[in-house]
Amino acid sequence: MRVLLVCLAGLLVCLKTADSHSLPHKDYETDSSKHYITNPLNDTSGNNSSSVPNNSIRNLDSNTTTFIVRYVTTVDKKEYKGIYAHKNGKVKKILEGGRAVSVWPSKSRAYLGHKDGIYVYDTETEKLEKYGNLSDSIIGIVKENCTDDLYILTEDHVVYKVIEEGTKKIKVNEAEHAEQIALDWDDNLYYIGANNQPYVVASDGAKKIEGLPANSTSAVISRAPIKIEHGAWLMSGQQPYVIYPNATSEPFVFSDQEKLEYEKRNRDLQVIFLQMRNQTEK
Ligand SMILES: *[C@@H]1O[C@H](CO)[C@@H](O)[C@H](O)[C@H]1NC(C)=O
Ligand SMILES: *[C@@H]1O[C@H](CO)[C@@H](O)[C@H](O)[C@H]1NC(C)=O
Ligand SMILES: *[C@@H]1O[C@H](CO)[C@@H](O)[C@H](O)[C@H]1NC(C)=O
Ligand SMILES: *[C@@H]1O[C@H](CO)[C@@H](O)[C@H](O)[C@H]1NC(C)=O
Ligand SMILES: *[C@@H]1O[C@H](CO)[C@@H](O)[C@H](O)[C@H]1NC(C)=O
Ligand SMILES: *[C@@H]1O[C@H](CO)[C@@H](O)[C@H](O)[C@H]1NC(C)=O
Ligand SMILES: *[C@@H]1O[C@H](CO)[C@@H](O)[C@H](O)[C@H]1NC(C)=O
Ligand SMILES: *[C@@H]1O[C@H](CO)[C@@H](O)[C@H](O)[C@H]1NC(C)=O
Ligand SMILES: *[C@@H]1O[C@H](CO)[C@@H](O)[C@H](O)[C@H]1NC(C)=O
Ligand SMILES: *[C@@H]1O[C@H](CO)[C@@H](O)[C@H](O)[C@H]1NC(C)=O
Repeated sequence: MRVLLVCLAGLLVCLKTADSHSLPHKDYETDSSKHYITNPLNDTSGNNSSSVPNNSIRNLDSNTTTFIVRYVTTVDKKEYKGIYAHKNGKVKKILEGGRAVSVWPSKSRAYLGHKDGIYVYDTETEKLEKYGNLSDSIIGIVKENCTDDLYILTEDHVVYKVIEEGTKKIKVNEAEHAEQIALDWDDNLYYIGANNQPYVVASDGAKKIEGLPANSTSAVISRAPIKIEHGAWLMSGQQPYVIYPNATSEPFVFSDQEKLEYEKRNRDLQVIFLQMRNQTEK
């Protein structure tokens, strides 16, 4: 029995699967992935979900690259299996042991985080290169909208701003024990702290975002879909929120059209995920 649970819309989609047939000897293991799509909520390729066959990937146009960070969680640890890129119907492993991706909707460069620093992947030429000379063990990476600067989150939960083409880093002291990081389109930095609550980093320190469920254990933050000009995106369980730099938040309600696109995309992602697993199991 295959159970697929889709937990996040927008730029970043996290898909979890538990498949008892393919995991016969590892009772506590979950095979999961995070997906990073280069054209969030802007699919105009079809109106009608029922007209799309299950096994085709019409939603993600042929030139779109979808990144998949694959990891396996066991009782006590999370093991990164690598970053895959899906394009034109094919899935390819591009970085063994890769852990995080920062994609840019309008550009062909994606920044990848690895345990020995930053790599850059060109989605057009499909070339991978080391970026800069840092060697941090990275679990989160985001790129600014207005500059080429990046923020990285390292395995020891410290956030750095990376400047001068990956050759210099500056510690962001305001972000304490971050679990995840995200930027909005105005380059405000948000993070999820050790308590699972999101914060925004302001000039006078980090501020806790108000108006969210107090006890969410599954909050995921990311850049917001492009149509949301201000604020970042937070998925708390199945409910999306927009979180703002003034530390407020509001629930986000999908329009009917967006809901269809979202569901369609999730089906497409399931196909990609199965394809990826199929390939790696051979
Ligand atoms: C969304 O799609 C429309 C139609 O293809 C295109 O004109 C527009 O530029 C896209 N917007 C973004 C932000 O990609
Ligand atoms: C989507 O719907 C609109 C209006 O309902 C129609 O004009 C358009 O051709 C449709 N697009 C597709 C791809 O079916
Ligand atoms: C889906 O397509 C069918 C036939 O093509 C049409 O009758 C139906 O109204 C469409 N549904 C939506 C939600 O667009
Ligand atoms: C799509 O998948 C559903 C459930 O997995 C199945 O019932 C349906 O027949 C499939 N449709 C097509 C066109 O394959
Ligand atoms: C896909 O990208 C290639 C190379 O950049 C370009 O020549 C082609 O027109 C693109 N196709 C679509 C459907 O956008
Ligand atoms: C951020 O990106 C958006 C979309 O690409 C662009 O319209 C906007 O001008 C950018 N913001 C700034 C401050 O440059
Ligand atoms: C990276 O390169 C810069 C400029 O070449 C140099 O100043 C810096 O010390 C280097 N950093 C590391 C960690 O090697
Ligand atoms: C968490 O929040 C939900 C909804 O507000 C509530 O039903 C539940 O009892 C809460 N659980 C704990 C442990 O506080
Ligand atoms: C916070 O910012 C949002 C978005 O800009 C705005 O709608 C809201 O009114 C602001 N709230 C306060 C208390 O300033
Ligand atoms: C898995 O691989 C087999 C053999 O190549 C193929 O027949 C099957 O359709 C694949 N399944 C998926 C879900 O891609």
